[in-house]
Order: sequence, then structure tokens, then C-alpha cells
Amino acid sequence: MNSEPIAFMDSGIGGLTVLKVALKELPHENMIYLGDEAHMPYGEKSVDQVIDYSLEIGDFFENQDAKCMVVACNTATASALSELQTKLNIPVVGVIKPGSTAAVKATKKEKIGVIGTKVTVNSHAYKKEIQKLNPNAEVIELACPTFIPLVEKGDYTSQLAKDTVAAGLQSIKDSGIDTLVLGCTHFPIIANLIQAVMGDDVQLIDPGFETVNVAKSILADKNELNNAKITETKYYTTEGVTHFDEVASQWLNRKVGSKLITPDQLKEYGR
Ligand code: DGL
Repeated sequence: MNSEPIAFMDSGIGGLTVLKVALKELPHENMIYLGDEAHMPYGEKSVDQVIDYSLEIGDFFENQDAKCMVVACNTATASALSELQTKLNIPVVGVIKPGSTAAVKATKKEKIGVIGTKVTVNSHAYKKEIQKLNPNAEVIELACPTFIPLVEKGDYTSQLAKDTVAAGLQSIKDSGIDTLVLGCTHFPIIANLIQAVMGDDVQLIDPGFETVNVAKSILADKNELNNAKITETKYYTTEGVTHFDEVASQWLNRKVGSKLITPDQLKEYGR
């Protein structure tokens, strides 16, 4: 048994979609969540920049005695997972392999779509992972960077949000896929808008579920799951505490009071 926290990172509030699953599936665990709002969007940064940010956050998590790190960001997973796994002393779980596993299980037509940031799509990390699991699978990848600001602003219902999602998905809408991976952790928050455009015949995959299962089984194998009745989740953001708390409280349905940790403070934890 180990009561140290499981730590989650994202560029912003998107990783809360993974944390939300974890809070439900692992109710006896302490957690840390860090949203790197000061550097968001990661999807428009260079791979090297995303690696640097992710390593600083990983070092901070180790300093907080985290027992496991979940990279609850597809862009950071695509860019920095192997560096994090090499450099940190704790297990590091990304979202792309679990998301690919779920997609391969779900597809019947072996035709899978993936939507994500530019960095994630350009890395072809999903395509490689999916085709490792099923070499016959056809994978269509599409960058949807315009969806992320909607989610960060908390705009999930306006006509502008609906129009933006419809325009963004236009080229994949009639491509014949039967499964669509939400390859950006911001997207499950607007899953209903995405589903409305894609139609009910397309199954949406939220990699968060499988990711939390993977983290759970790693900790179970190490006998490091906790069984506390009262647990704590600490939230950090690198910018914009008030806005982060507002959007996070709404999505998680609980009161979130985050602490500011500036990029300079975070750098001090870097190696
Ligand atoms: N949530 C991040 C992801 O899963 C992307 C958002 C960003 O571009 O920062 O890729």
C-alpha cells in the first residue's frame, strides 16, 4: 500500500477529463493535477518545448513524492513520453497507447479516425500505435486546433461552438470511419457536439478510461494502491487561478481551489 499521490499533467484543463475518470475509478487515492496554462496550447509549440515543459512538471511531481505520473495530454504523450519514462524514477503512463487499444477493440470496419492537436497529428503516434495492434486498420488523422480555445473558455453550447466543431470535422465526417479517437484530452468535454456532427454510427473513444485502467493495474502489480477513506486532490495551474477554478469546478462538479505555481517556480524543480 502506498498513500502518495497519483499525479496528472496537461497543458490546461483538458487532463481533467482523465482526472474525472480517476476520481471515480480510484476513489481511495490522493491526487495532484497540474494544468500548464501559461504554456498552453502545447499543440502549437515545438516538440522540444513540450519535452522541456513536461520534464519540469515530472520533476515537480517527483518532488511532491508522486507514486505515478499520468500524462493526461496527448500532445505531451506524443512528444515527451519516452523521455519522461527514461528520466523519472516513477512509472509514467501516457494516453496514446491506451486510446489506441480502446479504438482497435471498438472498430468493426477497421477504419479509425483520430482528432488531436497539430503536434499529435504530425507525430502520427496514434497511427503507429493502432497499426502495431492491427496492421490492417486504416487510420485517418485530423488536427482540430480550433476546438481547444472553446473548451478553455468554457464555451460548450453556443452556436459558435457548434459551428466551429462542424467546420473542423467536415473533412472526416463522411470518410467512412466507424470509430473516432478523441486524441486531445480537451475533446471529451465537447463530446456531445462532436457526436452530433459525426452521427450515432460513429463510436467516440475517450482514451481516459483505458489510461486510468493502465495506471491502476501498474499500481496494483506493485502493491501500491491506496485504501484511504478520506483523500485529497491538490490542483496547480501555472496561470489564471480564478478561471481555472471556475472551469474545473464546473467540469468536475466539485469545488476546485487551485494554487498558482509559476513557470519560474516550476523551473526550479527542473534538473
Ligand atoms: N490537451 C492537450 C492534448 O491532449 C492539448 C491542448 C493544447 O494544445 O495545449 O493534446
